[in-house]
Amino acid sequence: MKVVSTIRDLQEQLKKAGLSPVGLVPTMGALHQGHLSLVKNALSSCPLVVVSIYVNPTQFNDKNDLKNYPRTIGDDMKMLGEVLREQDIVFTPDDKEMYPEPDTRVFHFGNLDRVMEALHRPGHFNGVAQVVSKLFDMVRPDIAYFGQKDFQQLAVIRSLVKQMGYRIKIVGNPIIREEDGLAMSSRNRLLEPRIRKNAGIIYKAISGAAPMISNLDIPEIEESVINTIESYDGFRVEYFNIVDDTELRHIKSKSEIRKGKKYFGCIAVKAGNIRLIDNIEIPL
Ligand code: PAF
Repeated sequence: MKVVSTIRDLQEQLKKAGLSPVGLVPTMGALHQGHLSLVKNALSSCPLVVVSIYVNPTQFNDKNDLKNYPRTIGDDMKMLGEVLREQDIVFTPDDKEMYPEPDTRVFHFGNLDRVMEALHRPGHFNGVAQVVSKLFDMVRPDIAYFGQKDFQQLAVIRSLVKQMGYRIKIVGNPIIREEDGLAMSSRNRLLEPRIRKNAGIIYKAISGAAPMISNLDIPEIEESVINTIESYDGFRVEYFNIVDDTELRHIKSKSEIRKGKKYFGCIAVKAGNIRLIDNIEIPL
């Protein structure tokens, strides 16, 4: 694999390789099996794969979160070295390369940017759109791969592609889970052991939502999931919303269910000091 950290070197390598389709896997490093599944998916369809590793400051609304975000570049390179081919590229730009000037662009995503994560992390999706659009412009991929764990991010990126007219296919990869069901995340390694021990309850609780549908209405189901998780010491639910998968409209009653739409239960939990998100399809 080739490791480059400037746009000039990136584009030179892309040109030299001259292969298509080009697959892009944008990451913030601290790679785990979830990232690896994205990379493997890209490798199976694209003769040229670019993996970017960049902790993007503009998407962090909390300075401490940015400071504490795990950075494990040595392990990341080792992991990628085992799967990438000679021609594939790892792009590791620094802040000056990505933001030679402050990025003042403001994106609008309608309802997608007014619910769930957007309410708890103001400005987050604008930062994601800034960095992802830059990566799209730099790499010009044919296909880009993102994890479905970041459910709302995926919807925002699909909207970004439409708004900007990018001719890029967006692929969402299924969530990869630990043995106890905890969704893999770079942040999991920051969990205190006493919290990690019980963190499987998040998936267990959201998996329990679908079977309740015949007896309970939406608010009671949401409340039950929240209560189950919060019965564990150190776990506080920021939201658990059942939403449709395109507009992310939060349904408040079973009467709002529309045929042909898919619904997902999306959750954010403060587990000790660490914020975790997850989601599950709820067949309604
Ligand atoms: O999902 C992530 O890791 C990040 O939000 C992304 C897409 C790499 C942008 O920084």
